[in-house]
Amino acid sequence: MSQPIRFFYRGRIHSVSDAPPTRTILQHIREDHHCTGTKEGCAEGDCGACTVVVAELKGDAIEMKTVNSCIQFLPTLDGKALFTVEDLKQQDGSLHPVQQAMVDCHGSQCGFCTPGFVMSLWSLYLKQEGKTAHPDRKEIDDTLSGNLCRCTGYRPIIDAASRMLDLPRASFDREALAASLKEIRRDDTLTYGSGGQMFYAPLSLEHLVKLRAKKPSALILSGSTDVGLWVTKQMREPGEVIYINQVAELQRVTEVDGKLEIGAAVTLNDAYAALCTHYPQELSELWQRFASQPIRNAGTLVGNIANGSPIGDSAPWLIALGSDIVLRGSGGQRVMPLEAFYLDYQKKDLRPDEFVEAVRVPLPRPGLRFRTYKLSKRFDQDISAVCAAFALTLDGDVVRDARIAFGGMAATSRRAPKAEAALKGRTWDEAALANAIQALSGDYAPLTDMRASSAYRSKAAQNLLRRFWLETRPDAPLPASAVNAFANA
Ligand code: FES
Ligand code: FES
Repeated sequence: MSQPIRFFYRGRIHSVSDAPPTRTILQHIREDHHCTGTKEGCAEGDCGACTVVVAELKGDAIEMKTVNSCIQFLPTLDGKALFTVEDLKQQDGSLHPVQQAMVDCHGSQCGFCTPGFVMSLWSLYLKQEGKTAHPDRKEIDDTLSGNLCRCTGYRPIIDAASRMLDLPRASFDREALAASLKEIRRDDTLTYGSGGQMFYAPLSLEHLVKLRAKKPSALILSGSTDVGLWVTKQMREPGEVIYINQVAELQRVTEVDGKLEIGAAVTLNDAYAALCTHYPQELSELWQRFASQPIRNAGTLVGNIANGSPIGDSAPWLIALGSDIVLRGSGGQRVMPLEAFYLDYQKKDLRPDEFVEAVRVPLPRPGLRFRTYKLSKRFDQDISAVCAAFALTLDGDVVRDARIAFGGMAATSRRAPKAEAALKGRTWDEAALANAIQALSGDYAPLTDMRASSAYRSKAAQNLLRRFWLETRPDAPLPASAVNAFANA
């Protein structure tokens, strides 16, 4: 049995029954609706030419956010609303203030990137409702972190982000949209099939567990920021997909026994927002530099660790803090330290009927000194050459516990046992640092690839440990602004 996918688009509810489950939203709007304002550049979530806004009900409220339509599968739209650049045209035929500001500020040359920029700016415009102050430069930059322009340059576009709010306001009727979305709200699992492929979207953990037990080889889909590329770039055709983002229990962030438990459907932005209330100094920069705004709106923290990538930016600091991963299968829950989950490159300790339910992150405790550092060629939207995380527990000046983990230094994010041993029980001083730096070279044999050479990685890892010491030494620790070029940016 297959049910149609239902979503709000171009002012009404659409129903789709015949698209393959892995058809992307971008393919659907361009090829089925011939709405070609939205462009395809990279087809992998990097350039932002395909940026659209997706709205969904959160309780009775509407949440609207940008996503990359090139890597999102059409059935994930079920119950939601889709807005593209075509929707911005005003009823009298005039341009939306966002578009007018782009014209006024000369924010477009060839125009290929422009619809994507306009949709990102529209998301910012919507957030400004009811506010009097204009967004600051940091907020504008962050909004545009997923949009590349090859010819205009960014200054006129950044000008347009301010100018759009000086023009007569265009309103947006959230109440009418909420009413439409309530009409298509489901109360049970979506089962959708076409062309021999199946797509399931359960709403409860109980249904997900049963479905997983019946379909152990189905592909688990969440934010689609990685899996989307398996289809668009590797041309894989998953026969069955289980989409877990509608499972209510997996959408939660809860605090239990000194740990923050983050469910598998919590987006990177929501997860880092919750984490940064506890670790503002330690995690804010990584949050901002993690991929781009539309990727963080769609991708999940659990997805980032569940795929076991050697260059994922979350695993090193989660491991350094001593986080646990929570697995669930038909036999119940299994909880293990995150580092025990990674067996080898792309190999995880996950049984066929299991999925990752959550990650549990320890909250700050007395004596904890924790930092994570990302090295990449660009500030935004770049893959780390090296990602480091250090967590020491100090008792006075003495290191009672040391946990160090790196991404980009081995086939998986891995701890540095020799460097840790060189620190444990020692006074946290320059001599201990020198020993740990020396020991670190025995912990990893990094590869040379397009992002960095082996020698660079080894040296950078040592220097990051030194930077950590400068920031956390008991005597005269340096502020981030003294060791980080971006701290005052
Ligand atoms: Fe480049 Fe989608 S086409 S991000
Ligand atoms: Fe040409 Fe931006 S205007 S890529």
